[in-house]
Amino acid sequence: MAYQWDRSLETGVPAIDNQHKQLVAAVNSLLDACQSGKGTAEVARTMDFLTGYTIKHFSDEEKIQKQYEYPDYAIHKRYHDAFKVTVGELTKRLIKDGPSETLINEVNISIGDWLVNHIKGDDFRMAAYVKTKIPA
Ligand SMILES: [Fe+2]
Repeated sequence: MAYQWDRSLETGVPAIDNQHKQLVAAVNSLLDACQSGKGTAEVARTMDFLTGYTIKHFSDEEKIQKQYEYPDYAIHKRYHDAFKVTVGELTKRLIKDGPSETLINEVNISIGDWLVNHIKGDDFRMAAYVKTKIPA
């Protein structure tokens, strides 16, 4: 199942939204590699890209939060850190065991669904705050 980018995921902060779009695309590439039987090398490649892009995006997003002194920065960063651990663990298991149905299901829940829920919840709250601070 592919994740759809639509306006329900738009925070209204273009720098963040553009990266979120890329992240959703990266999750879809990973799921596609897992499901299409392209083999472990392709799964590893897409997982690698997702990992790198996640690290970059979280770092950029945290910089914005610090810049505008977002009061929930610490807890938001904890969510990011926990997700990076999840991605690392799933990468190890995908490489070791291959993309079994159970593992693909976990990728859907722990990566895809997590990301969508994080954007719609934590990121929307953060963006609403940031938008009040950005000069018009
Ligand atoms: Fe975030």
